[in-house]
Amino acid sequence: MDTLFVTGGAGFIGSALIRLLVAESGWRVVNIDKLTYAGNLESLTDVADDPRYVFSRSDICDRTALDVLFQTHRPVGVIHLAAESHVDRSIHGPGDFIETNIKGTYTLLEAARAYWSMLEAKDKPAFRFHHVSTDEVFGSLGESGLFVESSSYQPNSPYSASKAASDHLVRAWHHTYGLPTVITNCSNNYGPCQFPEKLVPLMIHNAVSEKPLPIYGKGDNVRDWLYVDDHARALRLVFEKGISGETYNIGGHNEKTNLEVVDALCSLLDELKPRRDGRSYRDQKVGVADRPGHDKRYAIDATKIERELGWTPTESFESGLKKTVGWYLDNPDWVAHVVSGEYRQWMDRNYGDRA
Ligand code: NAD
Ligand code: DAU
Repeated sequence: MDTLFVTGGAGFIGSALIRLLVAESGWRVVNIDKLTYAGNLESLTDVADDPRYVFSRSDICDRTALDVLFQTHRPVGVIHLAAESHVDRSIHGPGDFIETNIKGTYTLLEAARAYWSMLEAKDKPAFRFHHVSTDEVFGSLGESGLFVESSSYQPNSPYSASKAASDHLVRAWHHTYGLPTVITNCSNNYGPCQFPEKLVPLMIHNAVSEKPLPIYGKGDNVRDWLYVDDHARALRLVFEKGISGETYNIGGHNEKTNLEVVDALCSLLDELKPRRDGRSYRDQKVGVADRPGHDKRYAIDATKIERELGWTPTESFESGLKKTVGWYLDNPDWVAHVVSGEYRQWMDRNYGDRA
């Protein structure tokens, strides 16, 4: 049974990926996660007792811990998702983004290179360091056009600049040292188990909590939405079939303004959990100050991964959003625990001393 490492596996996308890998593949998965505020082991209860799943509470900035993990588990590759991921947080405090996204990726690359360089020659080409990145590295689009793999890097926020830096490190480790790498750049994900600071879960949580729905600026910024399980399938495919040294864009062909997203969420909530006063959740929308440096529009051209690896998204925006709203309505405890901090205290009690 071959082992692969997933970093950031207790986060939103990492947990979806691990649930998919344990359910549908033969991989043994070691989840390396520091359990920051965004890491939640409750997203992994389905797989927690599976013999093909191992959890290590470790920091990707900790080289000693990483070396021990590589020597202990001898993986055939790494899918690297661990990151600070929220743009607004990066604006208020960029330090953790520099630390984890840049220094952490560098430390992980060096640990992977040290391990890979000691593999037998016949095993080296099959190793993969798969770096999971974002379309935000390409900056902002105007009214038309799509991001392709060769689009120039123009990151605008501390978050996207830190992700761009990490992409460049991965590229350099391939070019200079020959480490077999792949990079994926994906658009906005939505789905179950997303921390309620991002647009979709924040709006659902605020709506049913009778709080305002804050729309930055005019609400006309455009994002390209992808259901998280479609991203997870793409990640598995690129890890298993992607060509070393290549990058692949992943996106859902679902361009929406923020107002369109919030209105769609309100309509679903009006249907599935009507307000007690009979009015629409749309009445809770409020305009607030814009995000500094707010990128206007992102949109992905996913032709390469479709053509070369045969990936296409299975969820439409409508079907994915309905599943997402249904999941949040069915799982109020998941949200309550992460919002109250109760779950963090539980994790610290249970995993605080584990490396
Ligand atoms: P998330 O914030 O939900 O999860 C991040 C995870 O990384 C958490 O479990 C956290 O505990 C862990 N982590 C943070 N710092 C760590 C460290 N130093 N060591 C070990 N673990 C650490 O993020 P997400 O939305 O699931 O995003 C995952 C990856 O995908 C990120 O690299 C992000 O840049 C990228 N991405 C996200 C989106 C999106 O829409 N969410 C889109 C494209 C790409
Ligand atoms: O494009 C991929 C990126 O998508 C990922 O790399 C990031 O990790 C992920 O967080 C996401 O970044 P965004 O900044 O696009 O996502 P967010 O959910 O924070 O915001 C989506 C849009 O909604 C954006 O235009 C800002 C707006 N917004 C957001 C919040 C939280 C609001 O209008 N109100 C809000 O309260």
